[in-house]
Amino acid sequence: MDVVAAIEARRSIRAFQNKIVPQETIARMLELSTKAPSGKNRQPWRFAVLQGNKKDELAKVMHNAITLLKQYNKDTGSCDLSIHTIREAPVVILIFNGFSKEKGYRHYTLLMDTQSIGAAVQNLLLAAQDFGLGTCWICDVFYCPEEICSWLNRQDELMAAVAIGYPNESPAPRSRRLVSEVTTWLD
Ligand SMILES: Cc1cc2nc3c(=O)[nH]c(=O)nc-3n(C[C@H](O)[C@H](O)[C@H](O)COP(=O)(O)O)c2cc1C
Repeated sequence: MDVVAAIEARRSIRAFQNKIVPQETIARMLELSTKAPSGKNRQPWRFAVLQGNKKDELAKVMHNAITLLKQYNKDTGSCDLSIHTIREAPVVILIFNGFSKEKGYRHYTLLMDTQSIGAAVQNLLLAAQDFGLGTCWICDVFYCPEEICSWLNRQDELMAAVAIGYPNESPAPRSRRLVSEVTTWLD
């Protein structure tokens, strides 16, 4: 599949077939993810691959955390939907910033490393597309990052989750603003 076709075909997928993703496929997707460019070639991305019980535990940790938030009438956004997606997917990859908890970490470095991690996540999504897999990029983990990190005993900063599996839905393209609305051409 060429890149343009992968970009055009990709959708956020939230329903998955009950089918295992081969370990070598996951490993290859991670390898392709790390081919992303990164500011100063710092490669700030760190990954945790969750499958089976560990992945189900993630859904539980999130569910428990947002149940508590709800008791305090706090906003939990689309977290229930994201927990459902995590339960559905056979694989969830958590992505961390390996540097952002370091002392003296500067704002511009945060911006740079965050962009680098975004590039790696997008590579992961497009690589998955090429392997016939569906993905959903999930930031609802931000409702309970401390709970997730302490459960995994990780000191680095959680940036995103990506749910991965063979798709069990084929959604129509979601709307986009016109390029003309979001672009200024100057010469
Ligand atoms: C940074 C980022 C965070 C996202 N977080 C979530 C999320 O927490 N839960 C979810 O279901 N989808 C999430 N999405 C998916 C978006 O909802 C989706 O990309 C958008 O609606 C456009 O749909 P499409 O991906 O099918 O083109 C996220 C996407 C991005 C890029």
